[in-house]
Amino acid sequence: MRWIGVLNGPNLNVLGTRQPEIYGSATYEQLRLGLQGKAGSLGVGVEVFQSNHEGELVDRLQAWSAEPDIAGVIVNPAGLGHTSVALRDACELLPCPFVEVHLSNVAAREPFRRTSLLSDLARGVVSGLGVFGYEAALEFLARRPDVP
Ligand code: DQA
Repeated sequence: MRWIGVLNGPNLNVLGTRQPEIYGSATYEQLRLGLQGKAGSLGVGVEVFQSNHEGELVDRLQAWSAEPDIAGVIVNPAGLGHTSVALRDACELLPCPFVEVHLSNVAAREPFRRTSLLSDLARGVVSGLGVFGYEAALEFLARRPDVP
C-alpha cells in the first residue's frame, strides 16, 4: 500500500496548549487521529512522527528514504526549518515529493521565520492554514494531481 510520512519537529507535541492564538487549539493527538482518518478515506497509509530532537528527525527521514512504497512526505520542521542544514540534507534524500507545512503564517511573523532552508526543495509550501494545511497536503500527495 502506498503511504505518506508526516514529520513534525520540535514543540509540536504540545499543540493545543502552546500559543493557541497562533497554532490553534487542536492537540497533537487530534492532529494525528485526523490525519489517520483522512488517509483512510483517501486509501493510503500514513505514519505520523514527532520529535524534539534533530537527529531523530534525520534518522526517520533516512529510514523513510529507503521505503519503496512511500508516496510523499509532509514536513513541519517547526523551528528547525529556519536553521537546520542537516534536516535539509535529509529531505534531499527522499525519493518522493515532500510538502512543507506550517500551521501559522510564517511570512506574517518575526523576520527570522521568513527564512526556510526547505522551501526550495519542497513540492509546495502551505503556511497559515492550521491543521487544514496538513489535510490539504495529504490529499495532494495521495492524489498527486499533475500540476506544474
Ligand atoms: C511552525 C512555525 C515555526 O516558525 C515555529 O518555530 C514552529 C511551528 C508552524 O507550524 O507554524 O514551531 O512550523
